[in-house]
Amino acid sequence: MMEQAVKQMNEEMLKSALILADKNEDSVIKETALNNVFILSGDGSKKLVTKNLAPGIKVNDEKLITIDNEEYRIWEPFRSKLAVLVLKGSSLSVKNDSSFLYLGAANGTTVSHISDIVHDGIVFAVEISPRAMKDLVRVSIPRRNLIPILADAMNPESYKNMVTEVDFLYQDIAQREQASIAIKNAQFFLKKNGILVLMIKAKSIDSIKRSKDLMGNEIEKLEDFFKVEELFDLEPFHSDHMAVVARKIC
Ligand SMILES: C[S@@+](CC[C@H](N)C(=O)[O-])C[C@H]1O[C@@H](n2cnc3c(N)ncnc32)[C@H](O)[C@@H]1O
Repeated sequence: MMEQAVKQMNEEMLKSALILADKNEDSVIKETALNNVFILSGDGSKKLVTKNLAPGIKVNDEKLITIDNEEYRIWEPFRSKLAVLVLKGSSLSVKNDSSFLYLGAANGTTVSHISDIVHDGIVFAVEISPRAMKDLVRVSIPRRNLIPILADAMNPESYKNMVTEVDFLYQDIAQREQASIAIKNAQFFLKKNGILVLMIKAKSIDSIKRSKDLMGNEIEKLEDFFKVEELFDLEPFHSDHMAVVARKIC
């Protein structure tokens, strides 16, 4: 039941995102509903891009494109689950000065695009792996709004002196107890009415039980603290993953 509802919701959103992109065929670069995120048309294809906060500097091997003296970076949905949400028409509303706590920052791919989006805001990026942290520190150096934190997201007490209250909590960690980690961090850091974006990977929770049941269980756990506003299946870009967008209610 939930599977079918999510599929239908995704198809409708994807359709409306593409209609939006098609409205102005002549323009090469076109705004989306999200700050500093654009759709670049050319060579018969459309790509999602963010305006580069650190001009001339790549994070991975993404292409940099300059149009009218502004530099943009390609935002690849196969590499970033948040890009899939934007393509599927999420109504996430992020301001130029919004604040984020990002759990599971890895080498900084998605974090760097959020840093582009919240140009005058701040992104606290928590990562447990020292190897990934090396890359994340490199990514953060030219980005004035990105604060890398080497820590375990299961233990928010350990970074409570480094992080302020935030507008958004973003979590993408392949771990058991994904909903519990989100709830714990939200209690410490997320403002009332703040938004949680949780990427759930069913196989990390249990590799034998059915994915949809497991995702349903995780969502149920969230419902004591959040009002679920959007659900996205991340197919065809990330299999066995779902994104939950929810508002903190207490
Ligand atoms: C799927 S990757 C994240 C990819 C990243 N969000 C992106 O889109 O660029 C998951 C990351 O979570 C990190 N991680 C796993 N458990 C963690 C924990 N308890 N605390 C902080 N980070 C954790 C892993 O080291 C890994 O880098």
